[in-house]
Amino acid sequence: MSERVIGRIRRVNGPVIEVKGVTDAMMLELVYVGEARLVGEVIKLDGNRAVVQVYEDTTGITPNENVFGSGSPLSVELGPGLIGTIYDGIQRPLERLYDMSGSFIERGVRTPGLDRSRTWRFEPQATVGTEVSGGEVLGVVRESEQVVHRVLVPPEVAGKLAAVADTGEYRVDETIATVRADTGERDLRMMQEWPIRKPRPAAERNALSAPLVTGQRVIDTLFPLAKGGTVAIPGGFGTGKTMTQHAIAKWCDADIIVYIGCGERGNEMTSVLTEFPDLVDPRTGLSLMERTILIANTSNMPVSAREASIYTGVTMAEYYRDQGYDVAVMADSTSRWAEALRELSGRMEEMPAEEGFPAYLPTRVAEFYERAGSMRTLSGDSGSVSIIGAVSPPGGDFSEPVTQHTKRFVRCFWALDRQLANARHYPAISWLDSYSEYLDDISPWWESETGAGWSTSRAEILDLLQREVRLQQVVKLVGPDALPDSQRFVIEVCTLFKNAFLQQNAFDEVDRYTTAAKQRAMLEVILAYWRRGSAAIRKGVTLIKLRRMKALQDIVRMKTRIANEDTRSIERISARLERSIGQLESIYV
Ligand SMILES: Nc1ncnc2c1ncn2[C@@H]1O[C@H](COP(=O)(O)OP(=O)(O)OP(=O)(O)O)[C@@H](O)[C@H]1O
Ligand SMILES: [Mg+2]
Repeated sequence: MSERVIGRIRRVNGPVIEVKGVTDAMMLELVYVGEARLVGEVIKLDGNRAVVQVYEDTTGITPNENVFGSGSPLSVELGPGLIGTIYDGIQRPLERLYDMSGSFIERGVRTPGLDRSRTWRFEPQATVGTEVSGGEVLGVVRESEQVVHRVLVPPEVAGKLAAVADTGEYRVDETIATVRADTGERDLRMMQEWPIRKPRPAAERNALSAPLVTGQRVIDTLFPLAKGGTVAIPGGFGTGKTMTQHAIAKWCDADIIVYIGCGERGNEMTSVLTEFPDLVDPRTGLSLMERTILIANTSNMPVSAREASIYTGVTMAEYYRDQGYDVAVMADSTSRWAEALRELSGRMEEMPAEEGFPAYLPTRVAEFYERAGSMRTLSGDSGSVSIIGAVSPPGGDFSEPVTQHTKRFVRCFWALDRQLANARHYPAISWLDSYSEYLDDISPWWESETGAGWSTSRAEILDLLQREVRLQQVVKLVGPDALPDSQRFVIEVCTLFKNAFLQQNAFDEVDRYTTAAKQRAMLEVILAYWRRGSAAIRKGVTLIKLRRMKALQDIVRMKTRIANEDTRSIERISARLERSIGQLESIYV
């Protein structure tokens, strides 16, 4: 269907526009509003009236101007060229917009999501004459140094492959294959389009089995996320949501990162833009921008585009999942997205539910997180989308609707704690309020990658942290001297664990990222101190003597001084610790 007039503007209310005289508009159809042709989407149809949500500033738009329908839903373009690009919430490439209209983006500027002037070297892999169906690989393109882009048959296409292009340079909109079916012939290009609000199909959901290793110790060791899993990071103002998201975007072991800056300050996105190209992926030695797509919809950009941005992002993520990749989506912050929903709902005069949010907030939150998962793709490969959403509850109060609804739909929760942040204990992820429901899924991975006993060790340290809370209450009442050494030692070990393990400095070259193997070694040496130390105390060794051991200094410093590859050095600390405790004990036998 081509562009046609679907009605005329009746009323303008910020980004919400009422259209009259509507004849053949479709729900969720992409429309162009007024002579300025602002991009919008039909969000309500009622007789000959429609409500359109406009993704650009509507200043100057007047009643009676025409509204044009595009005939298709709001979609994104998927194909080579996404990686390394910065988009706004409706997939307009910001750099090209900037070239076209300067730093204040003009309204109605249209430029496709994928560059039509650029060519890519396509290498065919499919054989002419074979039957193909959705998801099958037609050929490959090296999209960036890190990413081999698999050009797929779009999900809805099936038939006999009648032609496929030879190896060569092609633009994304050139035909590279033809599929013949009973219904006719269809030319396929390297790019395809997909409506952002509709999940891309997969063959089936896989059970989750591998962790998304983030290099952040409190996360990986205590509250791990699975590849294909969902997590919320709630935290009050300035508690470290963005820093945590950035750290994961930089160091996690996903193949592709989609980072959605949603309604946050512009300077936070700038830091991603300036830092990422210079940072190197520890696994491949290549620039981190080589695997990243950025979607920037900062607080000064139109509110409805913010509403769309998370769908734009997750659709791109699903597209790379369909190619067999593990993708991590970061959304900072889903609260700003929910606020956009609230504003739009208010303008449509819908009946508000809790705190003014629309009654469909929980459904929308659930729909977003349901797009995560580890999937068997249509071609039988497997890929995953993990979703990491920041939540910014006003006043840091986790009982507000967005945090509460999010908590219902995610299976992992990294609660940021104001007191920890104030004490500059970073990442300020609370070990008492956070949880992960992925342990059963991913424990076997840890046991086979880092050695048996991981689950037991993890449980042991968490148990100590919980015992410490109770002991600290006693200390508050009667002072530390009232406790026997065996109990004071619990507090001692927990303090060591917090300093030497949980605290992690994002600005330190070594500390900012810790491999699974080093995390395990660090955990074990601290537990060795606990196990051997408790035995020594039972034999009569005093806490003061234990505390003076030089090996403890080495334990505190191992996070910054010992390189990831050098787990042998941690084993040496362990041996030294064992010798020192042995010497202390020998006095008592
Ligand atoms: N892992 C870390 N290592 C070192 N410093 C950190 C770490 N995490 C947070 N910080 C410190 O906390 C400050 C605030 O963090 P951040 O901007 O991530 O908070 P936020 O929760 O996103 O805040 P806002 O609510 O304003 O978006 C950072 O500028 C940094 O100084
Ligand atoms: Mg932030």
